[in-house]
Amino acid sequence: MAEEKITGHARVETNNLLMIVLILLVVAVGGLVEIVPLFFQKSTTQPIAGMQPYTAAQVVGRDIYIREGCNNCHSQMVRHLLSESLRYGPYSVAGESVYDHPHLWGSKRTGPDLARVGGRYSDDWHRVHMINPRDVVPESNMPAYPWLEKTPANVRSVQRHMRGLRTLGAPYSDEDIANAPAELEGQSELDVLIAYLQGLGVHRR
Ligand code: HEC
Repeated sequence: MAEEKITGHARVETNNLLMIVLILLVVAVGGLVEIVPLFFQKSTTQPIAGMQPYTAAQVVGRDIYIREGCNNCHSQMVRHLLSESLRYGPYSVAGESVYDHPHLWGSKRTGPDLARVGGRYSDDWHRVHMINPRDVVPESNMPAYPWLEKTPANVRSVQRHMRGLRTLGAPYSDEDIANAPAELEGQSELDVLIAYLQGLGVHRR
């Protein structure tokens, strides 16, 4: 039997190296075409109307949120589903996260989504809830964080942190940064964490 010459598609399917190179090429071009334009689209890079960068207290509060791993149980992203919008409010858009470095969207929801929790409860409710969740939600399995109330908020790194965020686009003035330690004066970790929670999602209601 005369040997058949392998050409065209058959050649791609029978040559491992060629297949790998072509797959990488397709994935690279496909990825670039999908991802690169997002860096230049206003809807993904510009803050939504009225969006403010985090205050000094919120910057420090957000660090505590990350340190305590709140994001392991709480997402911060309302998805495009009717059930979600009915429960949490308008779905999340990229322009709400432009000042979030790193973002805390997440997907694990042992507890409810917190993207729009700002203003839903009073500061006092949060205070009681954080010290012992069972005091306000008897069936809650959220851990208690009683030490936050007794620990002063860390003022040492806030200015450096805000300067870092400014390089990434947060519109802080020199004055905002200079005043940061004074703004945190006398505040506990619980105070600043609540300040952070109360600011979540309030720009898009
Ligand atoms: C082990 C999982 C878990 C961790 C970790 C956790 N939570 Fe929760 N959280 C829950 C659950 C479950 C609920 C619902 C019951 C309740 O309200 O206590 C909840 C509720 C909440 C609510 C009320 C939300 C609403 O819409 O009613 C807030 C605010 C909250 N958590 C903040 C935090 C913060 C801040 C941290 C970190 C310091 C944190 N949680 C850590 C599980 C968790």
